[in-house]
Amino acid sequence: MHTSNSSPTVPPVKEPAAWTCRRSARYFHAMPHPKFPNLTVLDHPLIQHKLSILRDKNTTTKDFKQLVNEIAMLMAYEVTKDLPLETADVDTPLERMRGVRVAGKKLALVPILRAGLGMVEGIAQLIPSARVGHIGIYREHDTLEPVDYYFKIPSGEDARDFFVLDPMLATGGSAVDAVSALKHAGAQRIRFLCLVAAPEGVRRMLETHPDVPVFAAALDRELNDHGYILPGLGDAGDRLFGTR
Ligand code: PRP
Ligand code: URA
Repeated sequence: MHTSNSSPTVPPVKEPAAWTCRRSARYFHAMPHPKFPNLTVLDHPLIQHKLSILRDKNTTTKDFKQLVNEIAMLMAYEVTKDLPLETADVDTPLERMRGVRVAGKKLALVPILRAGLGMVEGIAQLIPSARVGHIGIYREHDTLEPVDYYFKIPSGEDARDFFVLDPMLATGGSAVDAVSALKHAGAQRIRFLCLVAAPEGVRRMLETHPDVPVFAAALDRELNDHGYILPGLGDAGDRLFGTR
């Protein structure tokens, strides 16, 4: 005899016991760096392995591009660990169950032009629904001061998670500028992803935007007199696009 109260045409939702709906609102889920509370260095072996090949001056433009994409994808996997989930019913071929999906508005990837473009494709493969904005900034050669030339981001700023992408965080001028512009436009949840960070840049981000977590594949030693990261990987934009 049928004893359930549920309708025979709409079977009850089955919820796997081990699943819970996570709604973690804050970041800093991973282990922050001991010197910089805003910094998380992602030390996954595959990220570190690929980064060493990337640094090699003999790595070709083609391989450089491919590696930047791969590292960005691996970083995105780590950096999205705390995204909030919401329940969503799913009809499997056998029955209806309670599944989950990432809650809220679509993420926005915001590369800082040019070099940040190299990180977009890898992350977009993992998060195909992500929207993409663009911020154009270059570093003035002599002063190392950032110069803005373009800004276009998806709407719904106050309700989206923004991932600012740039392979290099050197003096921090470009990153600070990009984040300030995003905040000015209304963005409230921003993370900064880079491949190589210098202590100077991380400190500047901490002082100016302490609410913005910085994720890097490496924290390098220092900047040289021309504002290049040591040991670094050289000029990321030039190596990506085969210029100079
Ligand atoms: C590089 C890099 C960052 C910036 C970092 O861009 O991609 O955007 O320098 O330096 P900062 O932390 O001292 O500001 P660059 O100015 O060379 O422009 P490009 O990407 O167009 O080559
Ligand atoms: N921009 C780069 O591309 N590389 C550096 O080392 C510093 C800034």
